[in-house]
Amino acid sequence: MAIDIYLSEEKIQNRIQELAEKINKDYAGKELHIIGVLNGAFMFTADLVRHLNMPVTLEFMSASSYGDGTVSSGELKINLDIKSDIRDKHVLIVEDIVDTGLTLTVLRKNLMERGPASLKLASFLFKPARLEHKVEIDYLAFEIEDHFVIGYGLDYAGRYRELPYVGIFHPEKES
Ligand code: IMP
Repeated sequence: MAIDIYLSEEKIQNRIQELAEKINKDYAGKELHIIGVLNGAFMFTADLVRHLNMPVTLEFMSASSYGDGTVSSGELKINLDIKSDIRDKHVLIVEDIVDTGLTLTVLRKNLMERGPASLKLASFLFKPARLEHKVEIDYLAFEIEDHFVIGYGLDYAGRYRELPYVGIFHPEKES
């Protein structure tokens, strides 16, 4: 088997509930505009918003800095932009993983230029070992060691996004 379970479904769901409680407190009495970053954050976004209790609007954006392999190309491309005007809105970016930090650095700058009332970041995972561009994560579910992980939205060459848990992937063991 090329996958070792790293974060179980139960552990993930419990942690997301804790994060949502913190977000509910911080945004009490406010409206929140969520921008989920495709493709990786689709599952985290869907699970997180189910626990939120303020008025929420939701859009997805697609930006990538990776090719089909496990090494960053260092390039960011915005493939799909949001349609709404975020000026004066409280915006929360929801991302799957901060690895080198490149994607979020460029994305954050791009969104800041659109004049939101506030802009915060929720990330499902953070790999500090590979950070090259410092990113402030306001709501982090899990800090992880330097492994290439798949599942819960994260892929290897487009596969494994549907898994309800996070696994460590060993491509050399794949048959
Ligand atoms: P960054 O720009 O280097 O922070 O990379 C962010 C993007 O790289 C994420 O949104 C993921 O799509 C991808 N990525 C980084 N590390 C992993 C991993 O361990 N598994 C799957 N995708 C990853």
